[in-house]
Amino acid sequence: MTSSIPVFEGFGLGLRPPHFDVFLEGEVPVDFVEVISENFLVGGGRPLHVLDRVRERYPVAMHGVSMSVGSADGINPDYLARLKALADRIEPLWVSDHLCWTGIEGFNSHDLLPLPYTEEAMTVVSANIHRAQEILKRPLVVENASTYLTFADDEMTEWNFITELCRRTGCYLLLDVNNIYVSGTNHSFDPEVYLAGVPADRVRQMHLAGHSKGHQLLIDTHDENVPDPVWALYEKACGRFGVTASMIERDDNIPPLRDLLNELDIARHKARPWIRAA
Ligand SMILES: [Fe+2]
Repeated sequence: MTSSIPVFEGFGLGLRPPHFDVFLEGEVPVDFVEVISENFLVGGGRPLHVLDRVRERYPVAMHGVSMSVGSADGINPDYLARLKALADRIEPLWVSDHLCWTGIEGFNSHDLLPLPYTEEAMTVVSANIHRAQEILKRPLVVENASTYLTFADDEMTEWNFITELCRRTGCYLLLDVNNIYVSGTNHSFDPEVYLAGVPADRVRQMHLAGHSKGHQLLIDTHDENVPDPVWALYEKACGRFGVTASMIERDDNIPPLRDLLNELDIARHKARPWIRAA
């Protein structure tokens, strides 16, 4: 079915529309860029033109938000076909999406909704990931979403669920360090126990981001600088997993590219002790 994904030790940024021109006009000091797949699932237009030009100069990771691997009614085959066409076009480092469900019976909530960590959900998610990998002809990289509730029926922890998912499907992991911190705070688990509990040999990417404080919860808004506790957790993650592809993920309140590059330099500095490549 699928091939393996080699480790890529690099530092990258999301390719966002406010920065299209900078990427087109000159060299940006990043090792890779990540794109939101759904923004390019079109037959043409400027975004796809920009992506083609950027791809000529940078490796690209494809990151989706609506595969809905947790959907009991399966993954939309039309979506998978269009994702496959984009992947064949740009030959990405990998294709990722979130451990969540986003809708049902054709309705897309545009939210990353939480799953119960049960054997029943495991069966659904495993089947969906097998199907996606079969169509995409690539291993899927699965990202932990932040959550704001847990289920009374939970039979295992999120990290145990993820570990078993990797074993059953051969998928890889994108660890969002901020999301681990947010969920850990919201549900009172130790983020370092989470890091210790996922399979190190499956981690291929890490997201770094900021969050907001809600009334009783932290909210994964991805619209702030990376805060100190997330940097501290990132250093722990590098110590456990080595340096996998790391990026600043800013989805809103997007600053000038220079500011994001400065944050990326912090990531490079924090990761330096664990960089294997000369
Ligand atoms: Fe993320």
